[in-house]
Amino acid sequence: RVKRVTALQIAERKGGTPIVALTAYTAPLAALVDAHADLILVGDSLGMVIHGLPSTIGVTVEMMILHGQAVVRGSGRAMVVVDMPFGSYEESPEQAFRNAARVMGETGCGAVKLEGGSRMAPTIRFLTERGIPVMGHVGLTPQTTHTMGGFKTQGRDAESWPRHVQDAVDVAGAGAFAIVVEGVVEPLADRITETVAVPTIGIGASARCDGQILVLDDMLGLTGRVPRFVRRFADLGAQADRAIADYAAAVRERRFPGEDNVYR
Ligand code: KIV
Ligand code: NA
Repeated sequence: RVKRVTALQIAERKGGTPIVALTAYTAPLAALVDAHADLILVGDSLGMVIHGLPSTIGVTVEMMILHGQAVVRGSGRAMVVVDMPFGSYEESPEQAFRNAARVMGETGCGAVKLEGGSRMAPTIRFLTERGIPVMGHVGLTPQTTHTMGGFKTQGRDAESWPRHVQDAVDVAGAGAFAIVVEGVVEPLADRITETVAVPTIGIGASARCDGQILVLDDMLGLTGRVPRFVRRFADLGAQADRAIADYAAAVRERRFPGEDNVYR
């Protein structure tokens, strides 16, 4: 049985071969990703992608645990990281530890991820000092879009750069083993990557980050309109649409089930 990639192994990839990361929420897709990726994120994006919620705000710890369990079962080699959902960690380091320990204990994942920069550093330290590996997430942080004024690419104004760099420095200093850098202008992503000692994993960031992550359903073409930073490596949505249309026609015309599909 092959051993899983660890937080320490990810941390050691700073400046090396880029870390390959993707999201997955289910066992079968986790198995497909596991064959090629270093890290699988059970992102709270599952609220929108899987459950049809308007944002990640309504995602619960129970939802993350259920999907985390499925992804851990479906994979065997990649490191599995589970997102801490909105409201499960912001109140206090103690609240964060209680919920993160539940997520790790009930799923068997290798780490949790939480959003936020300098403000969350004491919480990240509290978790990492107590045995919970933490992945940071800075730049555009979807859980706080209500107070940030919507989904906006960060760092368009040079005055904000020192604050964003400090966010990443504090998250790394608190013990995070890697940091997702989301939705920032390319030169700011490069500045952050050059400044922090742990790997940066970019999404809508820069090809010079130490790794990349995308939402699997986005890159497979299973979701609707996607932003500029997504490349559609496949168009499975269109293929599924054709397959379902063919099935509907075959049923209506009594071409399905056919000879091969019935027990004689
Ligand atoms: O929830 C998610 O899928 C994420 C990634 C986009 C980084 O946080
Ligand atoms: Na997320």
